[in-house]
Amino acid sequence: MSILLVATNRDMVPHRDKLLELDPNLDVEIWPDVKDRDRITFIVAWSQPANLLGQFPNLKVVASMGAGVEHLMEDDSIPDDVKITRLVSSHIQVQIVDFIESCCYQFIRRITDYVEQQRKAEWKVLPHALKEERNVGILGLGHLGAATAEKLAANGWIVNGWSRSTKQIPGCISYAGPDQLAEFLSKTNILVNLLPLTPETEGILNLELFKQLKQPACLINTGRGQHLVEEDLIYALDRNLLKEAYLDVFETEPLPASHPFWNRPAIRVTPHIASLTYPEELAGQTIDNYKRLMSGQPLLYVVDREKGY
Ligand code: NDP
Ligand code: OXD
Repeated sequence: MSILLVATNRDMVPHRDKLLELDPNLDVEIWPDVKDRDRITFIVAWSQPANLLGQFPNLKVVASMGAGVEHLMEDDSIPDDVKITRLVSSHIQVQIVDFIESCCYQFIRRITDYVEQQRKAEWKVLPHALKEERNVGILGLGHLGAATAEKLAANGWIVNGWSRSTKQIPGCISYAGPDQLAEFLSKTNILVNLLPLTPETEGILNLELFKQLKQPACLINTGRGQHLVEEDLIYALDRNLLKEAYLDVFETEPLPASHPFWNRPAIRVTPHIASLTYPEELAGQTIDNYKRLMSGQPLLYVVDREKGY
């Protein structure tokens, strides 16, 4: 039985090395170097090639290398009886919370304006808002959204959240379902996206939604690029429906050098780094679930394939 690591755009060697450091008895291979397809029972995958995952007759589990799983949900080659799991880690949680709070502070303290002023050697003091004057609204109150809501509320931000089902999160007003989306948006200045990408959430960050935000408004997209309708963002910025956008994820990654987002001062681009997957955490969870598989115990962090997250 062996574990296969598959990714087309990541170096999997540190991940293999960490797995072997934690358990030297494991049999771990990195795609495309596979000795015997029949031996593969557990695959860790990110940006896998099309139709690859259906080629392992004894496959039991595909584990996402990240928190998001849309690359696996969209992969029709994964047989129905194969379990899909995702990475759930406190380290990812802490990184995401810090990243989002740093964007919130940059927005209220007008750092984007000061970067522009610096470019022009301009010394001018601008008025700024206090955090209790700018409501944060978080789309998605799961592992990452709930932690973000709780931490921001504890740090003095006014926090609302929206999810499929109602939540009890200290300091956060919870809105649920399509019927409560408008009310949630009307109370939100700083819109944070931490939804998973599913057919229901694709394109949710669009002009109709931006128009419903409380002014002044800004967007922090740490979900997926496909949540955002790119031309609607440009329009919303041009019409001042949004003052700024902090984008960490994009429809095409890496963001092409010719993309208009690069040259817009009101758009802050980061290369999908709101959180990074460290080998220790991926290896720890992989070994835990691999051993659970081998001993017939329930796996951790299994994705609901019906819901898509
Ligand atoms: P979870 O699965 O734990 O949470 C998802 C949340 O979204 C849940 O609260 C869920 O509601 C809500 N949700 C899903 N569909 C809908 C819908 N149709 N309407 C309303 N709410 C909905 O995910 P995580 O918090 O772990 O991660 C969220 C996403 O963050 C990932 O899928 C990934 O895309 C992104 N991410 C980005 C990273 C980056 O570096 N930029 C790093 C890690 C993750 P309910 O609870 O009611 O089911
Ligand atoms: C993700 C991740 O899902 O990096 O984006 O974990």
